[in-house]
Amino acid sequence: MEEIDQFWYDKKVMSAEKPERIQIFDTTLRDGEQTPGVSLTVEEKCEIAQALSNLGVDFIEAGFPVSSAGEFKSVKTIAEMGLKSKVCGLARCVPKDMDAAMDAGVDLVHIFIGTSPIHRKYKLKMSREEILERARESIQYVAERGFKVHFSPEDACRTEFDYLVEVCKMAQEMKVAHINIPDTVGVMTPAAMEYLVREIRREIKTPLAVHCHNDFGMAVANTISAVNAGATIPHVTVNGLGERAGNADLEQVVMACKLIYGIESKIDTRKIFETSKLVERKSNIRVMPNFPIVGENAFAHESGVHVHGVMANASTYEAIDPEMVGAKRKMVVGKLVGAHGVRGKLEELGIKVGEEQAREITKKVKDLGDKGKKVAEEDLVAIAEDLLGMTGKRERIVELSDLKIQTQLGKNPKAEVVLKIKGKEKKASDEGVGPVDAALNAIKTAIGDQEIALDEYHLDAITGGSDALADVTIKVRRGGGSTMARGVHEDVIMASVTAFINGVNRLLK
Ligand code: KIV
Ligand code: ZN
Repeated sequence: MEEIDQFWYDKKVMSAEKPERIQIFDTTLRDGEQTPGVSLTVEEKCEIAQALSNLGVDFIEAGFPVSSAGEFKSVKTIAEMGLKSKVCGLARCVPKDMDAAMDAGVDLVHIFIGTSPIHRKYKLKMSREEILERARESIQYVAERGFKVHFSPEDACRTEFDYLVEVCKMAQEMKVAHINIPDTVGVMTPAAMEYLVREIRREIKTPLAVHCHNDFGMAVANTISAVNAGATIPHVTVNGLGERAGNADLEQVVMACKLIYGIESKIDTRKIFETSKLVERKSNIRVMPNFPIVGENAFAHESGVHVHGVMANASTYEAIDPEMVGAKRKMVVGKLVGAHGVRGKLEELGIKVGEEQAREITKKVKDLGDKGKKVAEEDLVAIAEDLLGMTGKRERIVELSDLKIQTQLGKNPKAEVVLKIKGKEKKASDEGVGPVDAALNAIKTAIGDQEIALDEYHLDAITGGSDALADVTIKVRRGGGSTMARGVHEDVIMASVTAFINGVNRLLK
């Protein structure tokens, strides 16, 4: 993208305290795993930890070792992986927690204790003095065993300022590596966070971390304000996962710090998109399409005015170059497009169609649009190729040789497939919630590519009656790429399988 200064208002409010570099403390595997419904296996946690290390995060909070045998195993295995990132384990101020973290062999122990009046009264039932003393003893317990301490006065942002400073001063005297300021229930605003961090920094020289929750949707903004005031270790999670409404999102914090504030980190930004996709798959929490940076629409342009602008110069409607985060720009063909526009767009993409064919393709695009689906450039190509019968003429990597489906009342349907993959025969069987699901699962098993996933599925009956032709349009995804594909057959399973194999061939080519 052309070098332009698009952040001149931001420059007016940048503080002199903002650091040149930040260290990224990733807590996807700890607070991120506290997202309701997320539970990762040891293998999945290790795969994510490896990806985070490749991405360049400085610290990986790998889990809460005392919480279960599986959690202890995950943290220990990650600590033994020899990653470039330092591995951290969470512990309350109780010996069994701290022992578990140290036994797991982490590089640093994150110990926390609630300091706010609410936590003191209702959760801990301890006085200010008792909490201060427990925190001091705990820091000493870990430090004298040769481990570094990352210390958190939990619920710091609802703690009386004088007491918070007293606790932080104690931690500083005890020589903890970092002091973290958690906004445990996300009550801060950017201005309040900037004020708090600046005031703490007047008293405390130990490097400050911040841990912002997103209850009011301000976790990223609050984190960036804290960094602007001199905090150097933002806690983040991939895709903003985390307890309740989540934590500050890694992608947004890193990119805003880098592009708006000129604050660098060790993150290899080109790996951001693929890391987000990995976490999306493993956590089963889908990223919203309009999520910044990694959402499906983050670099999609639909309106005619925008498409024109972007084609002239991408910076007209893009603040971030998609390549910088490993994503791709998409031009979306909306339902308001005319046959003329579709014909022109296809010509631009190297596909010539006649007037009648253009009308037919436009109808398909509009039908999908009316069902709330958007059609990207590659989808338009797929629809055109299917309608023109070009798919069959392409060299195909995967071909279906045979398919058997078995359904029985009260049991999951089973499918057996025989595929030819690059000419070699591959057999597999699998089950599913229905016969189509079973067939597609068996195909995925035979191909053996875990990255292939079905994103959307539409079934239309072309004619009436039980012998109607089934017209299936699907969206198949693999890694960062996706494509639409179509299959038409009098048997709905065959129409689905044809569409799926067409899509897979397009993605594997
Ligand atoms: O939100 C929080 O306060 C936490 C602490 C353990 C730092 O997750
Ligand atoms: Zn938290």
